[in-house]
Amino acid sequence: MSSSPATKPDNSDPAKHNAATLSIDGKEYLLPVRHGTVGPEVVDVSSLYNDTGLFTYDPGFASTASCDSELTFIDGENGILLHRGYPIDQLADRGTFLETCHLLLYGELPTVDQYADFQNRVTMHTMVHEQMNRMYAGFRRDAHPMAIMVGVVGALSAFYHDSTDITDPVQRDIAAIRMIAKMPTIAAMAFKYSIGQPFIYPRNDLDYSANFLQMCFAVPCEVYKADPTLARAMDRIFILHADHEQNASTSTVRLAGSSGANPFACISAGIACLWGPAHGGANEAALNMLSEIGTVDRIPEFVERAKDKDDPFRLMGFGHRVYKNYDPRAKIMQKSCHEVLDALGLKNDPTLQVALELERIALEDDYFVDKKLYPNIDFYSGITLRALGFPTTMFTVLFALARTVGWIAQWREMIEDPDQRIGRPRQLYTGPAEREYVPIDQRG
Ligand code: SDX
Repeated sequence: MSSSPATKPDNSDPAKHNAATLSIDGKEYLLPVRHGTVGPEVVDVSSLYNDTGLFTYDPGFASTASCDSELTFIDGENGILLHRGYPIDQLADRGTFLETCHLLLYGELPTVDQYADFQNRVTMHTMVHEQMNRMYAGFRRDAHPMAIMVGVVGALSAFYHDSTDITDPVQRDIAAIRMIAKMPTIAAMAFKYSIGQPFIYPRNDLDYSANFLQMCFAVPCEVYKADPTLARAMDRIFILHADHEQNASTSTVRLAGSSGANPFACISAGIACLWGPAHGGANEAALNMLSEIGTVDRIPEFVERAKDKDDPFRLMGFGHRVYKNYDPRAKIMQKSCHEVLDALGLKNDPTLQVALELERIALEDDYFVDKKLYPNIDFYSGITLRALGFPTTMFTVLFALARTVGWIAQWREMIEDPDQRIGRPRQLYTGPAEREYVPIDQRG
């Protein structure tokens, strides 16, 4: 979407700037200001280098909008998260994950008929090519499941050549459906492989999350009975992780996609980025941290470590680049955590007690209050996922499974943006100035 030409600033309404003026060496440059539906306006600097010979500088992109998007909006100050305008708590409490997938992909919540059609399309693509099963055998049994996910998802492009032409909207849509449909199967296979159990095929008589749980926990020796409470909790966890604006892994998918790479390769790049402990790996790290703390009486020791600049320890599951208030997903995750633990008779789980007390202490501590550090989605998810029966190494895999719909929806939005071009940031060069080559026998 092209930016409107800069006009004389009419900043009479401070809520509605239409241009910004940049003065360099006494010369003034007008930069257009663009307005979204809600949230901060943006100063369009796309012509800055051509007009002034200067770059902007924003490592970490804390003040930079990389695109415009209609998918998700976050108000970090007020702890608000909307998907196509719908608040996350309403989607999580009243909808299903596949409804949220339809909303993110096509812009609207589905009608009854649209939902039945979408659910059927996804169901019909849950199996993977039988040849893919042999890929797992190439990994050690103790390989981290995220390593398997990066490899197997990237290899999907070797099996589904009929949905890699990114210029064909039909292929873009089938690739999206395939990704959403096959991620649970691939993730469950990674889990089964790591515990030495046989792969379990998807079942078309189960809904999305119940099917995933049966592929993870069923065994050929007995009939699997899906627990609707646990399946509902799993579904809600997927909704909470579906999309989150231009986070690190989504930006990775967009940047990879901007070169024209096929969607499967782009999702694999997103999985790799999500793996980091500062991002999606935080749920695994948070539970490991809570287990390391062990008992409530050791919390003060760790809180002090988290505040110590010389100690690399951080409270995993706390803080966020955007949320400077409580992550709305964390509140829902905490509620889901209590529901799952109650359903499983684990309400006195010692790890949950440590988490609740750690949260209470941190939220009263000036360090965390001053830096606006609140629990994020990863703080309670680990306790819930462990209660559901998953090992910590599977936590980020589940995050990747859920975020696949966000990644593929963002990827498709970028491909379909008429202004889309290859992403190619510039830099501030601070290396040596030009110098002559010195032959090795003359280097002292
Ligand atoms: C996700 O972007 C997204 O939307 C991500 C995500 C999504 O859905 O895609 O929401 C998912 O990644 C959630 C975040 C999960 N990560 C963690 O829980 C890891 C712990 N959190 C931190 O690593 C950190 O808070 C980040 C990475 C999440 C945010 O990093 P920022 O915005 O770069 O903040 P920062 O590191 O500059 O911290 C600001 C200050 C620093 O102190 P000063 O240098 O200003 O003195 O706060 C401190 C930090 O030291 N700080 C923490 C802290 N997080 C930040 N101190 C102790 N414990 C923490 N967890």
